[in-house]
Amino acid sequence: MIIIRSIAELREHIKAQRVSNPDLQVGFVPTMGFLHEGHASLLQAARKQCGLVVMSIFVNPLQFGPNEDFESYPRDEARDREVAEEAGADVLFFPQVKEMYPAPTKTVVTVAGVTERLCGASRPGHFDGVATVVTKLFNIVQPDFAFFGLKDAQQVSVIEQMVLDLNMPVRIVPCPTLREADGLAKSSRNVYLSPEERQQATVLNQALQAAESLVKEAGDELTSADVKEALSKRIAEAPLAVIDYAEVLAYPSLEPVHKLTEAERIILALAVKFGKTRLIDNRIIPIH
Ligand code: PAJ
Repeated sequence: MIIIRSIAELREHIKAQRVSNPDLQVGFVPTMGFLHEGHASLLQAARKQCGLVVMSIFVNPLQFGPNEDFESYPRDEARDREVAEEAGADVLFFPQVKEMYPAPTKTVVTVAGVTERLCGASRPGHFDGVATVVTKLFNIVQPDFAFFGLKDAQQVSVIEQMVLDLNMPVRIVPCPTLREADGLAKSSRNVYLSPEERQQATVLNQALQAAESLVKEAGDELTSADVKEALSKRIAEAPLAVIDYAEVLAYPSLEPVHKLTEAERIILALAVKFGKTRLIDNRIIPIH
């Protein structure tokens, strides 16, 4: 595995690899680092499909709100190198903020519709930041395939819509959510949780599990309001949990539904705060 820090050097490296192997498929895994097994699983998926696997680690200031955790976002370059190498990355790209944003960007990629609800509503500007940095990274790496986790299902919808609308020559590969043994979705932000919060944080997966069973048993008769209520009630059983949203929408459009049967697939989506830590999780369930 090689480490590259400049855009020009990365472009040169990938170009040379493509010249020496014209059939090369380049796989790309964008991340913000503090890698865990969820990130590693994306690398493994890329490894199976692609001859060259590039991972980027860049804590993107553009996607953090003014009161969010950009400064304190966990960083550990030495450990990230080990995890990335072990999981099969060929190139680890660490762009610098001053090279990605030498001046405030005057061009922003905004995806409408799928960004209206869920994290788009709770974190204004967040998905503009994500879509803009992912566009920049796609233009730098020019991958054939890019791998994204369904833990951030709305992010997958946003990127897929952007790629479709802007004719970006990359195929998006959504990958399943990796969890801790007790069901908590792996996240770089889990390290912020106190022991007590960490214990109660399992309520997200438990609420989703219970609501999923309800949908599978009685989906034909249920409305989204019924399922939202089931989610909220279960979360309220954890005293430290504060619900940001508990939503039931059509997937991947992220449009509201009344009866669940109005959609082919639905998403149950949660954002729950424990102290200052905001956790998200979801389930995507086929209805028809
Ligand atoms: P980050 O939160 O570091 O996540 C990088 C990728 O790892 C995303 O595609 C995310 O969905 C995936 N991921 C995170 N936790 C996962 C889990 N438990 N199981 C499977 N995949 C998981 O998402 C971002 O960074 C940024 O928004 C980024 C796309 C890099 C743009 O800055």
